[in-house]
Amino acid sequence: MAEDFNVKLDTAMYYTPSEECTKDSWAGDYNQRYQEFVADPAAYWEKIARELEWYEEWDQVREWNYPHAKWFTNGKLNITHNCLDRHVFNQRRNKVAIMWRGETADEERIFTYKQLYQAVCRFANGLKSLGVEKGDRVCIYMPVVPEQIIAMLACARIGAIHTVVFGGFGVAALNQRIRGVGAKVVIAADVTFRRGKAIPLKTIVEEAVVNAPSVERIVVLRRDETKPVELHPEMEVDFNDLMENQPRECAAETMDAEDPLFILFTSGTTGEPKGIVHTCGGYMVGTYYTTKYVFDVRDNDVYWCTADPGWITGHSYGVYGPLLNGATCLIAEATPDFPDNGVWWNLIEEYGVTIFYTAPTAIRMFMRVGAEWPQKYNLSSLRVLGSVGEPLNPEAFEWYYQHIGNRECPIVDTWWQTETGMHMITTMIGEPMRPGFAGKPIPGIIADVVDKDGNPVPPGTGGLLVIREPWPSMMRTIWGNDERYQKYWNTIPGCYTAADLAVKDENGYIMVIGRSDDLIVVAGHNIGTAEVESALVSHEAVAEAAVIGKPDAMKGNVIKAFVILIEGYQASEKLINELTYHVRMTLGPIAIPSEIEVVDALPKTRSGKIMRRVLKAREMGMDPGDISTLED
Ligand code: WTA
Repeated sequence: MAEDFNVKLDTAMYYTPSEECTKDSWAGDYNQRYQEFVADPAAYWEKIARELEWYEEWDQVREWNYPHAKWFTNGKLNITHNCLDRHVFNQRRNKVAIMWRGETADEERIFTYKQLYQAVCRFANGLKSLGVEKGDRVCIYMPVVPEQIIAMLACARIGAIHTVVFGGFGVAALNQRIRGVGAKVVIAADVTFRRGKAIPLKTIVEEAVVNAPSVERIVVLRRDETKPVELHPEMEVDFNDLMENQPRECAAETMDAEDPLFILFTSGTTGEPKGIVHTCGGYMVGTYYTTKYVFDVRDNDVYWCTADPGWITGHSYGVYGPLLNGATCLIAEATPDFPDNGVWWNLIEEYGVTIFYTAPTAIRMFMRVGAEWPQKYNLSSLRVLGSVGEPLNPEAFEWYYQHIGNRECPIVDTWWQTETGMHMITTMIGEPMRPGFAGKPIPGIIADVVDKDGNPVPPGTGGLLVIREPWPSMMRTIWGNDERYQKYWNTIPGCYTAADLAVKDENGYIMVIGRSDDLIVVAGHNIGTAEVESALVSHEAVAEAAVIGKPDAMKGNVIKAFVILIEGYQASEKLINELTYHVRMTLGPIAIPSEIEVVDALPKTRSGKIMRRVLKAREMGMDPGDISTLED
């Protein structure tokens, strides 16, 4: 199937960003840097690791015991020491670390590195007072507020493993994740604000901890001061009360490089979502390195990554990467179209954002509403633009380049995954950019496009995107299921298979086309067909369900569901609404199908597997291809 598509390469067009934006960038000369890596990969990574502070140095840079890797073996560190102490006890004590903006201009909170350090220490002491110890799992279910970052860093400070769950997930999804890791404590907020409305989160938590016996305490950030939610004293504690009177110092736990730092769930193609495990040492080095070299972060930059820390982009490039680099970060609890379509551009102007990192789906939304919105604002502070989450199509690239970057800023279209922890493929600053193509592997990474046997395919021919060697921030395992981890390295022997389809051009630039499996990327968020299907089937009216991703001009894909009803139920608008509501309540608003069609039968293989590919082809009026395994 991968070889079924080809891309015409004869229209190659490369853009060269302005020299003013690219001169003296950290990236330097790409080829030279890449050669340095190839000549001695261990030495290359070791040099980067030495830019950070370790309590004890490693014995070995890399231990590759296929398919398991260890990095910086026996090295001792704490990532928060490098995110906080390293700056506080050097030159950045009073530098701004985080600027938070709510939905309105009067909601602003600013933390210097010292203030963030003290808040993290106090909250870490608070967690300790609840009995949280190194290795315990803590679930964080909060909106984008400084406390979300404080909670993450406080966990890391004391060696507790955090699992952040995006606030858009519903009861069933949250419950599954809490149980999946056996969380001892859940840290939540009472509400999240969206388009001026308070959306309750605590009620979701209350339901999600039923049948989650590992949970001992729930810490609640009460934001709605006008009517503070009631806390149930047997389980619940107030976030601020927990911090009050705690000492402003909390010695960072000494962590082994290979100790887990966090677990972040990502959708799988079948079964339950996967708890991706990242470790302290390698993840720190990888996110530090890529933030510095891909975004070219400097001390006077104002850096804004629009992703919620509920996703990997928020972990690596909203929290850890920029703080490791001592950057000043803007974070915003802001929907891009509220109160109007200029809100993001207004924030860029107001805070003088220099590095801006967002998703193609947002760019396409802005394209639709028109360039007059960014034109109302002064965006001249911008220096580097980034994109992540799905392919940045040439039209969106062009618009972003023209209307946001004024044809001066380089665009780094970064391809990577929850599993990879850090950027893998992009066009490093200063290199010519090719719209539609993410670019080349960053120095430190060996990527290729291959056929199903692992042989490289020629330029212009589609294939599977693979990584050939381990890298520091790669996932180490899947929580509680190492077999599932091993599959990533066993599908094509010797390679990490990303399950993305891609194409290379004659200069080695890689265009990522989309998933080769049943994952659907909706507005840059991964959603597994299996999760939505099982949510639908859990409704009493549904016998069977099949879900596909349907291409959408703005969101990349939307979810379309086909359902077979149980005898006695009739298709009606009311029932469709009920099913939609059911998915919203169980999986959360991000997983709602935009279309639900009632059908009598679903195409299946003789072994009973639903052939989503056939459904998709039919939906798009295309030839379904090989249907020899179709049951009927
Ligand atoms: C897709 C997000 C094209 C891809 C960091 C990948 C992309 C999945 C890009 C991982 C990009 C991410 N161009 N596709 N620049 N970046 N993807 O785990 O299909 O949420 O496999 O990580 O998003 O999504 P995840």
